Amino acid sequence: MNKKGVLCVIITILCSLRAFQLYWSSTRELRSTDGHSWLKKKTALTEPIPNKLKNDSIVLGAETNNIFYFLHATDLHLSRFRPKGHTHHFLHFIQSIIPVVKPQFVVVTGDLTDAKDKKKVTSQQYVDEWEVYQKAIEEKVDVDWYDMRGNHDCFDLPSWQSRVNYYRTHGKSAGLVEQGKGVYSWQVNQPMGEYQFVAIDACPKRGPSRPLNFFGYLTSKTMDQLERALTYKPFNHTFVFSHYPTSTMVFGVSNKGRTFRDLASHYSIYFCGHLHKLIAGLGDVLKSYDPVTKSLELELGDMKEHGLYRVVAVDHDLISFVDIQLPLKQISKKGPVNSLGLVHPIHPENSTVVWPAIIHPPPSILITNPKDARYSIPSKEPLWRIRQSTHIRFLVFSEHSAEHLAVKISIDGKLHPDQATFVGDTKNPLWAAPWDPSLYEDRNPHKLSIKVTAADGKVGTSHIVFRVDTNRIKIKGGSGEFIIKSKMSTVLICISLFTISSMLCLLLIPKFYAPQSENDIKSKARLNRLLLRIHSIDQVTVKSRYLRLQKQILIWSLRFLQLPQDQTIVWHITFIYILALLTLPWFRADFIPSGETSAERFGVFYMWGMVFGNEWVPIADTWLFATEQIVFDIFVFFFLVVWRGTDASDLTCRGVMQHDIKGTINTPNKLFRRQLNEMAWFKGLEIVYWLWRSSELVALSSFYGGIWPTLVQNILVYWMVFVGCVLGWGKNGVFTKKKPRNRYISVVEGCISCQQQQQEVYENKITEISLIHDEKKAEQHTQYNSSTSITATTLTQEEEQQKVGFISLSGSSSSCNSSTPFDGSPYIKSRKRHALKL
Ligand SMILES: *[C@@H]1O[C@H](CO)[C@@H](O)[C@H](O)[C@H]1NC(C)=O
Ligand SMILES: [Zn+2]
Ligand SMILES: [Zn+2]
Repeated sequence: MNKKGVLCVIITILCSLRAFQLYWSSTRELRSTDGHSWLKKKTALTEPIPNKLKNDSIVLGAETNNIFYFLHATDLHLSRFRPKGHTHHFLHFIQSIIPVVKPQFVVVTGDLTDAKDKKKVTSQQYVDEWEVYQKAIEEKVDVDWYDMRGNHDCFDLPSWQSRVNYYRTHGKSAGLVEQGKGVYSWQVNQPMGEYQFVAIDACPKRGPSRPLNFFGYLTSKTMDQLERALTYKPFNHTFVFSHYPTSTMVFGVSNKGRTFRDLASHYSIYFCGHLHKLIAGLGDVLKSYDPVTKSLELELGDMKEHGLYRVVAVDHDLISFVDIQLPLKQISKKGPVNSLGLVHPIHPENSTVVWPAIIHPPPSILITNPKDARYSIPSKEPLWRIRQSTHIRFLVFSEHSAEHLAVKISIDGKLHPDQATFVGDTKNPLWAAPWDPSLYEDRNPHKLSIKVTAADGKVGTSHIVFRVDTNRIKIKGGSGEFIIKSKMSTVLICISLFTISSMLCLLLIPKFYAPQSENDIKSKARLNRLLLRIHSIDQVTVKSRYLRLQKQILIWSLRFLQLPQDQTIVWHITFIYILALLTLPWFRADFIPSGETSAERFGVFYMWGMVFGNEWVPIADTWLFATEQIVFDIFVFFFLVVWRGTDASDLTCRGVMQHDIKGTINTPNKLFRRQLNEMAWFKGLEIVYWLWRSSELVALSSFYGGIWPTLVQNILVYWMVFVGCVLGWGKNGVFTKKKPRNRYISVVEGCISCQQQQQEVYENKITEISLIHDEKKAEQHTQYNSSTSITATTLTQEEEQQKVGFISLSGSSSSCNSSTPFDGSPYIKSRKRHALKL
């Protein structure tokens, strides 16, 4: 029995228990306070409004009743340092867009301010950014305004009560957030419907500076609030607003044991921001439909750079929206800066906002009937009303009055015969054109385009795809749809834990099979058998892909098997380090520099979350960081070090290579190709990679309070130092002196091919007879391979060598009597011989 191996397994199990305990305490706030609610059967929620009567008498005609709309904007990132976009876009939005659109209300889903420093490295709350936000709304906005915080609004924020929580003093809905403990709601009541709007502040209760502040979470208590807001009463539609897409949130469980998905069936649409438009077109359509909860999630791109805003309309319970961009061409690239080079558009004397010049957006169009079938919610919207309708209905937002607008409608590319007329009023710029939906009842999608030309020549267009048969059309959002549907924190947790457990297996399993000592004949035999199989694959001249793969698997098994014995220190330190990652804090850092006490400022980083004082913050950013570390700093280096455990001369079969170059005399060092990682350029790359990874740690210290404590109280740093040493001076290291290879030949005992080659080299050198390789030779090989008298042959050869006295054997020299048949195949003691000195 392998006592050390068993001990290691026991230690691993104990550490896993400790890890579970950490997980359990870190997520306590997310679990129901009602202890065993996960055991209880959930009491059924009152069903959301059932599918409305299909034989309803409501006909969408040319009337303006039962329609309203609102504006959604997000990620303003008001910034004192950046004159392009940011504050500038926001002021234009307030000054030139809101008065034209005249929405019922405006919702801004977070990242109201940028809070990044000039170099975009650290972050802190700047009161002048908030001042501009507050003043601009006070001065010009005369509609209801609802807002909430985004991650940027809680960068470097010790708590809600903190002095630097400027949202509390400058945000418009701070009172509501505070009162509702993170969730607040408002209603719109129409003659024929009631609509509920719910805003969620999902910021971490303690907000670290950037960059480890990207995910939001809802504690069990906030989930209770949300549950109440979503279920206390049925509404025609409920809309939820949050800064974070659900993919970047961690949801607790409400006291009654309800998960977020349970609640999601109670709203129609979840509006959010935060991802901006990602990069490289990945996030062009960050929108998705969940067929289980029957709800949509619609991310909106940022105002800061892309100048995007969204108009959402509810027309007889059909919801439609359009994302519109500020006319960026009319906006100067840079807004004004003051004498200090800062963006602070406030008059110094009377402290009013310095507004930019008015811009003139082209007409924008929102088609409300028929609605875009990609965003249909079949069980929550009365989609049959499209089929019953008598008019195409759409809203046109323009500075110009209706008589100065020319409207052109086309369906499937054909001009619509009926003229659209303005049927709206000052509150609803509604247009309608008669149509006959039965013409499109062929169970196919159709394309509707509307073009509006204003008196000043500016043109707005809108295209949608619709169906009249109440079916949905796939969003086809590509990567964006996939991202918005995924659950990022779960993915990260899975990657981290999977990588950790695979590495533990790769360390522990070989511990049981690797040779324990020089005398561990049985395990050594195992290694030798692996080598023999590698050599026998080598001897196949034309290797299939499967054989090549098999050879790689065998080679890697060999490398892992010999690790515990061959590089004992590496094995032990890696093992200890991985367990430490699971159970110990990784580092301590000044996460919240604006905190007043050291418990507020300094946090301890665990994979499972951050701890401030005695309080866990279950922010999922720790998993993002952990995944990066585990994959790039541990797995990659572990792999590189194990790879170095063998070199090509250990693995290549002597005899075979010779046949590749016919008729030439080969000296042994020409006979094998070096492994990729033995090449100088590859070693160079390894160093560059190491430097890059180390620089990431240095960057960490620049975010969180410098060398002390971030780099000194940091186990990651010690690991990098260790890895650096191993790569430099460990086995086959960059700076290790290489044994002169041509002086050595590795011969695997039992491999007839190797033995033969050894013999030939020996003869070659001793008797100076050139070797000639011809077809006969090959035949001879195959004969030898199938021969049963291999042991005898080898022994004779060896005896001869010993007689001549040119061979010196490493380890014990009792080669003759140690030869035992293994698995029926002949073999000799498991020892590579590096020792024939010529
Ligand atoms: C809103 O819901 C009520 C009750 O289900 C329904 O009678 C009414 O028609 C709905 N309003 C609209 C505009 O569909
Ligand atoms: Zn943002
Ligand atoms: Zn954000």
